[in-house]
Amino acid sequence: MLVTRALPDEALEPLAAAGHEVVRCTGDAPFSGDELAGLAPGFDGMVCVLTDRIDERVLEAGAAGRLRVVANAAVGYDNVDVPAAARLGVAVCNTPGVLDDTTADLAFLLVLAAMRRASDAEADLRAGRWAGWSFTDHLGRDVHGATLGLVGFGRIGRAVARRGAGFGMTVLHHTRHPTGVPGYVARLDQLLGQADAVSLHVPLTGSTRGLIGRRELDLMKPTAVLVNTSRGEVVDEAAVIDALHRGAIFGAGIDVFAHEPAFDPRWATAPHAVLLPHIGSATIETRVRMGRLACQGVCDVLAGRTPPNLVRG
Ligand code: GLV
Repeated sequence: MLVTRALPDEALEPLAAAGHEVVRCTGDAPFSGDELAGLAPGFDGMVCVLTDRIDERVLEAGAAGRLRVVANAAVGYDNVDVPAAARLGVAVCNTPGVLDDTTADLAFLLVLAAMRRASDAEADLRAGRWAGWSFTDHLGRDVHGATLGLVGFGRIGRAVARRGAGFGMTVLHHTRHPTGVPGYVARLDQLLGQADAVSLHVPLTGSTRGLIGRRELDLMKPTAVLVNTSRGEVVDEAAVIDALHRGAIFGAGIDVFAHEPAFDPRWATAPHAVLLPHIGSATIETRVRMGRLACQGVCDVLAGRTPPNLVRG
């Protein structure tokens, strides 16, 4: 088994329990495509993370050798070429279900922080710019009583909905297919026009890439915030930065970026932006659960069982 990045020891227990020999990367730098393609054929299974690009070349090299399963220790699997894996007979697993509440906590943290301008206010304090209590400085927007608009209503979206309701928000959601749940809005444009906070909870696919661009941002209220904990490419990043600079939206809470870890420097000067380095699922408990689930998926496939977290392409 190849484990491509440093994972908590406890996460690897399923591999040891199944008697697999584990080659474990203890460093925390991602492998290049060439390195992955070179390593893949020598392993029966690979536990990887979202910074590993498991593309057709890596899968072809792996399948020409021993590789039978790749488990991505993440719920999103846009870094894995699932159709190529299916064609080559390599199973793919991910980690659904174990990070929903943790990611929803972070999304809601960004709703709160963006609406209340927590980053600006803290930056002023840290930089010695606080001249004292003021009636009119650092004014944000009320969260209670505001409308939360969720784009995507899977497990994480629903968990964010519960948090919004708990904070006294009106919660709307949009998906391509009606959910039958109160608050469903059939048209994305309508949700964008009504929400005071728009939070994105869709996977990155061909149809969600660039879902929120200038047109959509201009449909949002100038008093509203945009929160993204899904994938950077779901939004047109330049358009969001521009919308913040021109005041087309009030603020943004951003945990994911289009070209991680590269970071457009214009984010740093964008007004009312709360910026985090992709830490949606980053708690000790959840990272152990994610790692274990990925490792268990590998063990199941190699033992001829169908894991519950098998990605069906
Ligand atoms: C994190 O972004 C994940 O997809 O698990």
